[in-house]
Amino acid sequence: MARPTMSHSSSFLLPTTDSAAAAAYAVVVLNQRLPRFAPLLWNRARLRVCADGGANRVFDGMPELLPGEDPDEVRTRYKPDVIKGDMDSIRPEVKEYYSNLGAEIVDESHDQDTTDLHKCVSFITRNPPCSETSNLYILVLGALGGRFDHEMGNINVLYRFSNIRIVLLSDDCSIFLLPKTHSHEIHIERSIEGPHCGLIPMGAPSASTTTTGLRWNLDNTSMSYGGLISTSNIVEEETVRITSDSDLIWTISLRN
Ligand SMILES: *[C@@H]1O[C@H](CO)[C@@H](O)[C@H](O)[C@H]1NC(C)=O
Repeated sequence: MARPTMSHSSSFLLPTTDSAAAAAYAVVVLNQRLPRFAPLLWNRARLRVCADGGANRVFDGMPELLPGEDPDEVRTRYKPDVIKGDMDSIRPEVKEYYSNLGAEIVDESHDQDTTDLHKCVSFITRNPPCSETSNLYILVLGALGGRFDHEMGNINVLYRFSNIRIVLLSDDCSIFLLPKTHSHEIHIERSIEGPHCGLIPMGAPSASTTTTGLRWNLDNTSMSYGGLISTSNIVEEETVRITSDSDLIWTISLRN
């Protein structure tokens, strides 16, 4: 079955990049330690949203990531546009600080049905920082590490918004969804990512997945929990191609 091809690249993590011009980035910060590249992505983003306690992480973490600069100046420069969520984790002084700087604070404690990340992504899709949402990337910092149920909830958001490009990022890896509606071409930025990668049939088993560019390629291979899932694979080529009858989670290690 012929499917359209979707291209993916992590060029937003490169210190300098031209391709960033074509894409529009929104950054979401959740309540985990900020990865080292948080300032870079923040500067590159057109919209910055903190989920609840994520605001504490920006308040505490940005000055730590930029030592030698005046903490208050850093905090003024790295101000969230919007703070959303339950508001049970943000410290009162952090809330007041950013509120005084003009950040929009939206208390959503009445909505207990969706996670903080869900609320942030849904806000961004309703207020996109660009006209074409196909050019929009939502980069999520702090989605991994900490409680496992939170991590699984964040991965579920990738499935809930499978038509939006959402990338979960930590210091160690990036994760995104490969919808089965497309064939996928992943351009590997070797200076910043790899070689370890995984291809995981998280939502449902796959009866047939085919890849090129990996050390252990799949050829019309079935994958499922309890059977084969592709972990600790290795990227061998500049471009990895993946086609599957099922939505898959792609993950690749990030270099220090
Ligand atoms: C893929 O595998 C299935 C099940 O083993 C088989 O029926 C099918 O013909 C294979 N397709 C290709 C393109 O090899």
